[in-house]
Amino acid sequence: MDWDEIYRKGEVFWNKGAPSPPMMQYLEQHKLSGRALVPGCGHGHEVALAVAHGLDAIGLDIAPTGIAEAQALYPKLAKRFITGDMFKPAAELRGAFDVVLEHTCLSGLAPTLRADYRGGIDLTLKPGGLLVGVWFINPDLDPGDEGPPFPLSVFDLTALFADGYEIVEDYVPDAAFETRVGRERLRVLRRKT
Ligand SMILES: C[S@@+](CC[C@H](N)C(=O)[O-])C[C@H]1O[C@@H](n2cnc3c(N)ncnc32)[C@H](O)[C@@H]1O
Repeated sequence: MDWDEIYRKGEVFWNKGAPSPPMMQYLEQHKLSGRALVPGCGHGHEVALAVAHGLDAIGLDIAPTGIAEAQALYPKLAKRFITGDMFKPAAELRGAFDVVLEHTCLSGLAPTLRADYRGGIDLTLKPGGLLVGVWFINPDLDPGDEGPPFPLSVFDLTALFADGYEIVEDYVPDAAFETRVGRERLRVLRRKT
């Protein structure tokens, strides 16, 4: 999938132009600190949200156009947006993060790439660190739809992090973008080792 072409064409249908309401609610209710990574950050709204809540956050995205647009939207945070592949993070990103914030990155990836996604989290999150996810739960595609978003069930999510992580929070958030009400799950996983 050519993500940069999607940004160049302006076909970013998932982008709501604002930070995720469940992520905002979570960060308002839980004081997190340290370094945070937002993989597949797109236009960077969750990076801006994390910085506003005191995290030393950076956003990583494989699409250079998406990163340039994030930098233009949030010029004061421009240095916090980096082009790169979360499956093969640069040396300085490895084992560097206390927190990873997930928002519509996993559901944007074909199911065959989920093991690579898990590998990217393992390479960047410190042992004891938190993976705070607003996971888009979308078990069935609409007729004629090919994805993204790709089908993702709670079972799939549990299986992906069954070993090496423990669930520390898990609920259907009561804050959501209008079209996502009841379709997201706020699940926080702690990396054990
Ligand atoms: C569905 S979009 C979500 C963007 C953003 N999180 C949001 O909520 O607006 C998925 C994002 O993941 C990025 N992406 C896909 N594969 C990636 C990879 N291997 N490494 C880093 N970013 C990736 C895409 O370029 C795209 O910006």
